[in-house]
Amino acid sequence: MKKNAVVIGYGGMGGWHTEHLLKSDVCNLIGVYDIKEERNELARSRGIFAYDTYKAVLDDPRVDLLTVAIPNDQHRDGVIQGLNGGKNVICEKPVAMSSAELADMIKAAERNNKIFSVHQNRRWDVDYLAMKQLSESGEIGEVFNIESRIHGSRGIPSDWRGELAHGGGMLFDWGVHLIDQILMIIPDKITSVYCRFDHITNNEVDDGFKLDLGFENGAKAYIEVGTYNFIAMPRFYIQGKKGTGIIHDWRQNCKVTVCTHWHESEVVPVQTAAGLTKTMAPRDSVTTDEYELDRPLSDVHEYYRNFCAVIDGSADLIVTHSQAMRVMHVIEASFESNARGQIIKTEL
Ligand SMILES: NC(=O)c1ccc[n+]([C@@H]2O[C@H](COP(=O)([O-])OP(=O)(O)OC[C@H]3O[C@@H](n4cnc5c(N)ncnc54)[C@H](O)[C@@H]3O)[C@@H](O)[C@H]2O)c1
Repeated sequence: MKKNAVVIGYGGMGGWHTEHLLKSDVCNLIGVYDIKEERNELARSRGIFAYDTYKAVLDDPRVDLLTVAIPNDQHRDGVIQGLNGGKNVICEKPVAMSSAELADMIKAAERNNKIFSVHQNRRWDVDYLAMKQLSESGEIGEVFNIESRIHGSRGIPSDWRGELAHGGGMLFDWGVHLIDQILMIIPDKITSVYCRFDHITNNEVDDGFKLDLGFENGAKAYIEVGTYNFIAMPRFYIQGKKGTGIIHDWRQNCKVTVCTHWHESEVVPVQTAAGLTKTMAPRDSVTTDEYELDRPLSDVHEYYRNFCAVIDGSADLIVTHSQAMRVMHVIEASFESNARGQIIKTEL
């Protein structure tokens, strides 16, 4: 039977959730609640029921689950209120401002015997899925480096995302997605974290960052978010011992080059203005195989399908508490690294 869902916070992402829930095969959208009356009025004008108070949502016995889509600094209290009110709760990312807040939320879920998870919806993005598939297939051999970049050119949004007190900044906003994706691709223990923040358009929070992760197996990951890049660098770049993959833009397919023969009979040197090089000369087509990966299939509705199946006891969470906690620990180590200007040794 379909579950009855209410969206808490009818802003940008709350709007996305309502549209998504209206098309869901596992949920009915039965209403929204926003702290601002004008947002509730807007919902009503669009034919969506809006509750007057959060308490009224919790008092409604029809409600099975809440999706909390409010600014980051309010996630902890908003989620715990929902769980204590006897509802299952999906929280928007970043789930919390610290691992201590997340621990409180997990305890509240356990105490109330309710399901709680984080909306890591970018696990269904096809660029990420292509990288994960390429890494797991073994086509490019053992992966030793992966680079994930998101570049915009409009600065940080001028809303609460620019304010420290509300959990603003790009590490919280985009970093949380990109870190989560990398940890799904490289499951090994993280042994080092080195992060540097940018403050090009905003001094209060990071409006971009550069993050290096080192893993126990020797692999490295580099994550970069920029909001002042008028020319964007490739979305993903992955190197294995037998080949390389690249996704230039998240609307494009993954291009792969696999090395089929390590030794070349003759390397034609590249002549540059000031010299020549054989080391950096491109390989010819005889020793490599170039192809594009098919676009992976993806359906983000799987997120709510999984959550509802977990409520019914017929599945385990796709986005688990321990995964969410690990991402929070990487974020905390990144803040510490930036503040101290040092590499932080970790065992995460
Ligand atoms: N997963 C994603 O792809 C994605 C994308 C965008 C935003 N988000 C996340 O969604 C959350 C909301 O972001 P947004 O862009 O929708 O922000 P927003 O400012 O557009 O909307 C937030 C809404 O919450 C309301 N609100 C604030 N405090 C409230 C409270 N205590 N109770 C009820 N309503 C309250 C505000 O009035 C506002 O309408 C953030 O955590 C953000 O990181 C996730």
